[in-house]
Amino acid sequence: MYVKALYFKNFRNLSDGFIEPCENVNIIYGDNAQGKTNLLEALWLFCGGHSFKGSRESEFVKFGEKQARIRVEFFSQNREQNSELVFGSNRKEVYINGVQKKSAASLIERYNAVIFSPEDLTLVKRGPSARRRFIDSAICREKLGNALIISRYNQTLNQRNALLKDIYRHPELKNTLSIWDDTLCYLGSQIIVRRLEYIKKLKESAEKYHLGISGGREELSIGYLSTTKASYGENEREIFKSFSDNLRESQKEDIKSGFTTVGPHRDDFDIIINKKRAKSFASQGQQRSAVLSLKLAEAKVLSELTGENPVILLDDVMSELDRKRQDYLLNKVRQYQVFITCCDLDESLCDEKSRKFFIKEGSVS
Ligand SMILES: Nc1ncnc2c1ncn2[C@@H]1O[C@H](COP(=O)(O)OP(=O)(O)OP(=O)(O)O)[C@@H](O)[C@H]1O
Ligand SMILES: [Mg+2]
Repeated sequence: MYVKALYFKNFRNLSDGFIEPCENVNIIYGDNAQGKTNLLEALWLFCGGHSFKGSRESEFVKFGEKQARIRVEFFSQNREQNSELVFGSNRKEVYINGVQKKSAASLIERYNAVIFSPEDLTLVKRGPSARRRFIDSAICREKLGNALIISRYNQTLNQRNALLKDIYRHPELKNTLSIWDDTLCYLGSQIIVRRLEYIKKLKESAEKYHLGISGGREELSIGYLSTTKASYGENEREIFKSFSDNLRESQKEDIKSGFTTVGPHRDDFDIIINKKRAKSFASQGQQRSAVLSLKLAEAKVLSELTGENPVILLDDVMSELDRKRQDYLLNKVRQYQVFITCCDLDESLCDEKSRKFFIKEGSVS
């Protein structure tokens, strides 16, 4: 898929304007705080309506204004489509091809993007929750139904956790735990199977990309770490069983701590470079390269799965990479429609087809 045009009005500091990008490399350049990241955020929001910065919707509206509007015209599923999001004091309004929808979720299978921003380094640097968010967001974009499974799992988990806290004070309630356990294992095993399948595909590509980015010097290795002891190749039934067994074994501990200690909500994946854990031992450049490899792999898996190339959004990535790594990255992303933000226009990123957008105080020229 590719974006044909993006219109914006009072979206963050972007006042009123539009861009018509090319299908290849698009450069958005300008000084700090002019609106480059805001433009990428607008492009990203059509993936399902959530900010990659974790912002609230009210923050999208330009200071002093009542409403923000963004509209995208894009080519996907062999036809031209469009979507409009309106943010105001009420719930956001979503329009797809002119028809109002309840949520932006149904954009998921039509519009796809992969974003790499400096905040993504948390994937390597921080605790497991950022990595779980990464896989879950990826599997949700593969299939709309997966988001529903995850949301039902989280509801069940909250109910089980509430009961665990009650059992601590009223031990006679212990027998009712099994009501939630079955549902938890049923939904949880579906999530784990999808995550394992996803990591298997991701791993294959990410490991290759990392070898390429590092000029053959670094070996990346990724592995899913499950608190339920599930492993690659197991089916849902087998994972259901190991999840149930582990849940039963940890029951005492769960009651004592007042929350569920095993399940996909506690799983993680390991990022290892040259046999050492990246979080503790990798340099800044190695960590950045590992995240880039994961993101390139995410784009590849997504395009194989949906049959559509996602749009690639690179926010402030280039300036942090040495020339060799820049060239490798550019070469890999050229097959997609790419948006690259930078402060100074670097002509070496462009080719004859590239379009350049200069942004100043929220206006694009
Ligand atoms: N709701 C809003 N209304 C008006 N301005 C906003 C709003 N939200 C954010 N901004 C402002 O938009 C400006 C541009 O932000 P943005 O992150 O896009 O800058 P940038 O061009 O990416 O800069 P940098 O090169 O530093 O990353 C910031 O000064 C920010 O305070
Ligand atoms: Mg920025």
